[in-house]
Amino acid sequence: MDTLREIYEKHNGRLLNKWDNYIDVYDKFFQGYRNKEITFLEIGIAHGGSLEMWRNYFGDKATLIGVDVNPETKKFEEGNTKVFIGSQEDVQFLNTLKTQIPKVDILLDDGGHTMNQQITTFKAMFEHVKDTGLYVCEDLHTSYWSEYGGGFKKKNTFIEFSKNLIDFLHGWHARESDKPKMDNLFTRSIYGVHYYDSMVVIEKQPVGPPTNTYKGNKQLEKHYQNYGQKEPLLKKLKRKISSKLK
Ligand SMILES: C[S@@+](CC[C@H](N)C(=O)[O-])C[C@H]1O[C@@H](n2cnc3c(N)ncnc32)[C@H](O)[C@@H]1O
Repeated sequence: MDTLREIYEKHNGRLLNKWDNYIDVYDKFFQGYRNKEITFLEIGIAHGGSLEMWRNYFGDKATLIGVDVNPETKKFEEGNTKVFIGSQEDVQFLNTLKTQIPKVDILLDDGGHTMNQQITTFKAMFEHVKDTGLYVCEDLHTSYWSEYGGGFKKKNTFIEFSKNLIDFLHGWHARESDKPKMDNLFTRSIYGVHYYDSMVVIEKQPVGPPTNTYKGNKQLEKHYQNYGQKEPLLKKLKRKISSKLK
């Protein structure tokens, strides 16, 4: 079975346009979905070449769904490849789309790449990725480009928006005052957030409270002192008092 890179390098069909570094990242995360009855949604299908590449990669059992604002792209619909026309920043369109398609295994946002488009799509569509699935957004460099609404550390860019997910991932460990800000639905549904140059892969998977255990024989560590750990105040006081009393 060819790797995605091999398929991509050999591609001689309709035009497709990807940054080179995306190819190996896709393969790393998508390979477990090959030759299965999955649903793959790509927002932004342009010349139709990427749909051809995904068909070669995922195989005939996959349902491919393309979304594009350009009505001409409807012509790429054939067999198990469906195309829906509408804008990814039109919440009403996305809500209707969700009633027309099954929950997806993988959502890839390669649409218009403006901040509003990426954020609106994530807010509307994340819930439509299966509980175990992937949400991928590419061309995140537009978060640094003013013509797309971006800028370094600028509020309301997709990159800054997505960084919040890192906090939510750690919601389990938040102290009381931070709990309401960090512990939410994403804490329980996101297993990992992976950043690469210009792309983020969000691994959706049900997550339960983390556990922390020792393995091994405690007797072998009788004299161990945990230098790195802060001594609780009460314990410290007791130790000081008892050493003075000696
Ligand atoms: C970068 S191209 C997609 C490239 C394609 N995925 C590929 O790999 O060859 C971006 C596409 O997004 C579409 N697009 C732009 N704004 C959009 C929007 N608001 N909603 C949906 N699609 C949009 C454009 O029509 C264009 O076809």
